[in-house]
Amino acid sequence: MTTEMTNSSLDLSSSIRSRFPVFDNVVYVNSCSQGALSDSVRNAYDEYLQGLEREGSLWGHWIERQDRVRGLLAGLINVIPTEVAVTTSASAGVAALASALEFSGGRHKVVTTDLEFPTVGQIWHAQERRGAEVVHVRANADNTIPLELFAEAIDDETLIVSITQVCFRNGAVLDLKPIVELAHSRGAYVLVDVYQGVGAIPLDAHDLGADFIVGGCLKYLLGSPGVGFLYARADTTASLVPTSTGWFGARDIFAMDINSYDPAIDARRFESGTPAVPSLYAVAAGLRLMSDIGVEQTHQHVGELLRQLRSGVNDMGGTVVTPEHRQGPMLAVAATDEHAYVAALEKDGVVVSSRDGNVRISPHCYNNAADIDAVVTALHTHRQLLR
Ligand SMILES: Cc1ncc(COP(=O)(O)O)c(C=O)c1O
Repeated sequence: MTTEMTNSSLDLSSSIRSRFPVFDNVVYVNSCSQGALSDSVRNAYDEYLQGLEREGSLWGHWIERQDRVRGLLAGLINVIPTEVAVTTSASAGVAALASALEFSGGRHKVVTTDLEFPTVGQIWHAQERRGAEVVHVRANADNTIPLELFAEAIDDETLIVSITQVCFRNGAVLDLKPIVELAHSRGAYVLVDVYQGVGAIPLDAHDLGADFIVGGCLKYLLGSPGVGFLYARADTTASLVPTSTGWFGARDIFAMDINSYDPAIDARRFESGTPAVPSLYAVAAGLRLMSDIGVEQTHQHVGELLRQLRSGVNDMGGTVVTPEHRQGPMLAVAATDEHAYVAALEKDGVVVSSRDGNVRISPHCYNNAADIDAVVTALHTHRQLLR
């Protein structure tokens, strides 16, 4: 299978690999948990510390750095910067959005799926105290959800449809656009959680048409914990006023007005307090690097690596639970004891992770065919743990 790798794909990982020192130590295929640390992200953390040593307080730079992150994120998902709130986590973005919704009128339903990351389900269920009714669309046994199931669930009482692009447990990808169109035809907003795809799957937010997109920068965006984002489409933002807020969400951050609430006119209204500043430095560097590497090129490269991985797992009689026609950057392999499997692979120098009975293997731009060979060999060594 190695020989089937295209030259462009080989070039991608070989040209950047040396920038990620972790590969001197382990075979790292766990980008669905955290992207590998690059030299430029490490340097950015240093830059933050050096600035403190040199100048003391750096407020001016900090705001500039947040706007830099906003601009880079906007470029990556093809929107305008004023449509992007830079938050401290994906959860913070969803919670701010939820706080802006009213569930008391005719539209009180939240339609979501059982492929969501827990934080999303938890935030929607927390709104039940405010009158929300949360409806879960269940996935089929093959981890797909046909459009008809959304059509049955979304009605004229639905306020928002909240879906995930790639399931964190099994790697299944939803066909987003038909769901967005269906929800809009029934008058509902749509939120898409792209955290398990952004940076690895090309995304044009305007073309997708969702009202809101949430994600974070820790995984395929090569950043750091402490920075998430909420894209809010310009024409939907104006009518939504978050009640979970803070001074960074105000129209003028430095107005210092204690007597009123005057939210920013754009997506910044979904921000809250002082950002995670060291992380902003790191994330700006990670986003710059990921933009230079290219999401489209990465998508193709990872697709080839996953073909190699899938055939390796199939050959040893394992079960890939990620549907082949609906896969993203991560493959999930069924295990009898996923924790034992992850630990066994770690001893063999292969870093993966697990969720829900599956071992998750998630290559990124920096991985190569030799890494996948090493993963397949290690999986095979401990194949008694395959389910
Ligand atoms: C799909 C998805 N959504 C949301 C989250 C939660 O992100 P945060 O911890 O930034 O709120 C994660 C974290 O792994 C995730 O994978």
